[in-house]
Amino acid sequence: MRRFILFQFSSVWVLVFLITAPAFGQEADLIRQAGNFFKPLPEKLSAPENNPATPEKVLLGQMLFFEPRLSKSGAISCNSCHNLITGGVDNLPTSPGHMGQLGGRNSPTVLNAGVQFAQFWDGRAASLEDQAKGPILNPVEMAMPDESSVLARLRSIPEYVALFKKAFPGEKEPLTYDNVAKAIAAFERTLLTPSRFDDFLKGNAKALTDAEKKGLQLVIQKGCIACHNGVGAGGGQYQKFGIAEPYASSDDPGRFNVTKKETDRFIFKVPLWRNVTRTAPYFHDGAVWDLREAVRTMGKLQLKINLTEEEIDLIVAFLHSLEGTVPEAALKLPVLPTSASATPKPVLK
Ligand code: HEC
Ligand code: HEC
Repeated sequence: MRRFILFQFSSVWVLVFLITAPAFGQEADLIRQAGNFFKPLPEKLSAPENNPATPEKVLLGQMLFFEPRLSKSGAISCNSCHNLITGGVDNLPTSPGHMGQLGGRNSPTVLNAGVQFAQFWDGRAASLEDQAKGPILNPVEMAMPDESSVLARLRSIPEYVALFKKAFPGEKEPLTYDNVAKAIAAFERTLLTPSRFDDFLKGNAKALTDAEKKGLQLVIQKGCIACHNGVGAGGGQYQKFGIAEPYASSDDPGRFNVTKKETDRFIFKVPLWRNVTRTAPYFHDGAVWDLREAVRTMGKLQLKINLTEEEIDLIVAFLHSLEGTVPEAALKLPVLPTSASATPKPVLK
């Protein structure tokens, strides 16, 4: 009798095991497989040695990120083109800068930008610090004539003088152009957006729906992960856009502009998949509005495959699992100091 009970008891468990084990095994397998190509976001990004993050510096960086007086017209801030409430982009093909001038490329997201190995579509800035110095002086973006006019604006505002002193303690002249960029970069490193996909990578099989898991399987099987991988699911390498056939609608030579090497023509930094569902339109020229179309194009041009409509749906479903949450502190609008009477005025021409 005892043996019978024991038998019954264990056979129930064998049955339960037989029903659940394959599913569990498959899921564990997919998590393990995905972990070969992708990594979850860290809690925090490490700062470069010469720019340690402090709360004072991050707050100053946030103010500068939202500061339109860093532009000639006094009307454009970093946030104008990298809006933190719309996925860190402006959702325009190319961005209107000073007096509405359009730049040549689509604005990539600042969310998670710090996980990338280089910045800009062509990787011409090595770090966020390097990158932040560019747009302020770029004539079609924020259009300030030179570094000294940026400093003249900021130094005329006593509250900024005090904030730079707190953010860069012990420095003889804390309010420098380098430090403007350092503060902004320190803020940008906080813009990490953990998502359901991170939960999945960390072992929670239920974090993704069945369709999303199928999409994940597809991006692995089809070979997307050769280029879109790592912490950002992109942002880790340069690749040619148009391997199997050329990308027709753009004459942007990409990384060739930086290196002048013929082999770098049409080479671009592989963009992040994180929050890609929110950052339309797509590609360096912002020519494609529909994410399904972008995925179809990738299959054709990069992998020489025609993805079926169903495959495209599943891949797009998976990409939704990379939608993350912007840290609350970053979304809390900082109140900017008021201009003084000595503050140089905006120039609208
Ligand atoms: C007028 C629109 C505009 C403004 C203003 C602007 N940006 Fe950008 N940003 C862009 C565009 C367009 C690119 C891509 C340019 C390229 O790759 O050549 C870019 C690229 C970047 C990148 C690189 C992201 C990546 O994935 O490569 C970062 C980071 C960034 N901007 C941060 C900033 C910061 C910080 C400011 C303010 C100091 C700023 N931007 C102001 C449009 C803008
Ligand atoms: C050989 C490398 C490579 C492969 C394989 C690849 N991609 Fe890409 N992907 C890129 C590059 C490079 C870009 C940027 C193209 C450009 O705009 O210059 C890109 C851009 C994208 C974009 C647009 C992102 C944006 O922000 O504009 C999406 C979406 C995308 N890829 C999805 C996929 C999918 C899905 C697959 C698999 C079916 C795939 N990629 C395979 C290299 C690759």
